[in-house]
Amino acid sequence: MIIAIDGPAGAGKSTVAKILAKRLGFLYIDTGAMYRALTLKALNKNLDFKDEAKIIETAKNSVIELRQEAGTDNLIVLLDGEDVTLEIRHPRVTEFVSIVAKIPQVREVMVQLQRRLGLNKDAVLEGRDIGTVVFPEAQIKFYLDASKEERALRRYKELKDKGQEISLEDTAANIAYRDATDSTRHCAPLRKAADALYIDTTHMSIQEVVETLYAQVIKHGYSTHS
Ligand code: DC
Repeated sequence: MIIAIDGPAGAGKSTVAKILAKRLGFLYIDTGAMYRALTLKALNKNLDFKDEAKIIETAKNSVIELRQEAGTDNLIVLLDGEDVTLEIRHPRVTEFVSIVAKIPQVREVMVQLQRRLGLNKDAVLEGRDIGTVVFPEAQIKFYLDASKEERALRRYKELKDKGQEISLEDTAANIAYRDATDSTRHCAPLRKAADALYIDTTHMSIQEVVETLYAQVIKHGYSTHS
């Protein structure tokens, strides 16, 4: 069974997807982490973000892996064998990731990888185009949303907790910029799949969102004992 969770930045997708996957015993696949890993590599190599050919070549020549850290909930992101879990959350990466993610040939490479990871598995995939492009045949699709103020606040608190020096204004500006870039790009823009369940999480706690999603999974006939 594939569960697709899409939505804009700060809607709570990662937190909820991780908890839901654990509860169901499913694999958790954070597809944004893959675009972030490639962006990090482009930054480290000092690539010009306007040079799409170079970015595409880098995407084709990179090995991006997601690993569940033993005994914890943590997802480890490996780029060419190196642990980049923390670095891919750096504001520099967040600043440029939407530019990288709008290149169609980059998306081709990532989508192939995502399909390979989820093939014949029970998995929760989280991103922007999971229900529309990566797994349009997913049995259950959710689209998580929240007001832009709430999403900026959540992201701001999350970054502060991680010790990052960033203002609420800058966080809100980045979210607005990524919303616009991710939803207006030509290739696989962020949008709700016709058969996805829309959930506005603005006034919901994480636990409430998880319960809502879990109830839907059970309604679809999935039993954790099957
Ligand atoms: O979920 P996130 O914020 O870590 O994602 C980072 C960026 O990657 C996001 O701004 C758009 C892009 N992305 C995408 O285009 N398609 C996906 N399936 C996941 C992420």
